[in-house]
Amino acid sequence: MDHRSDAERDTSASASSPGSTSAPPDRLPRAAVSFRVNGTGYRLEEDTRLTLLDALRERLGLTGPKKGCDQGGCGACTVVVDGRPVLSCLMLAVQAQGREVTTIEGLATADDSGPDSGGLHPMQRAFLRHDALQCGFCTPGQIMSAVCLIAEGRAGSDEEIREYMSGNLCRCGAYPNIVAAIREVAGAGGGDRAGV
Ligand code: FES
Ligand code: FES
Repeated sequence: MDHRSDAERDTSASASSPGSTSAPPDRLPRAAVSFRVNGTGYRLEEDTRLTLLDALRERLGLTGPKKGCDQGGCGACTVVVDGRPVLSCLMLAVQAQGREVTTIEGLATADDSGPDSGGLHPMQRAFLRHDALQCGFCTPGQIMSAVCLIAEGRAGSDEEIREYMSGNLCRCGAYPNIVAAIREVAGAGGGDRAGV
């Protein structure tokens, strides 16, 4: 992870986004976008159709956000933008101009460090404790939604947790353990340290 938080990295790429090769490169609509991801500033100059998910995964190498359905139906790509959960497959990279993006890679901070933290955010530790995953593909998205849920004070009951988390699908069926992990963090005052 690049810790040069004050240094804006120019990651301009000559490669175009998937499916964008039908027009000559000089005729593709391109735009510059600057935004921060996990505390580091980036500047991209890309095809305007590039999604935030593809920018994160393919340009910045942050593969925590997963591409499940790529059409807004599964929640695997969830990241946090200015404190709100966002489906990054439905957001264009240019729409992130000037915004602060947090991915699972940037969730834990030095504040979470402790002898037993393992460098993980409390929600990540709770997921491990409660065995709230099997294959793990949905887990980054589940955790990013979960920290926002608690930050928004929406974890008052299991029913409320299930309702808020309903956009995050888990094909392994780990739902009861996911709810248990979120309930535990909420009960421990995890909203004060949502990490976003
Ligand atoms: Fe974005 Fe499924 S990959 S919602
Ligand atoms: Fe496999 Fe959720 S743990 S999809």
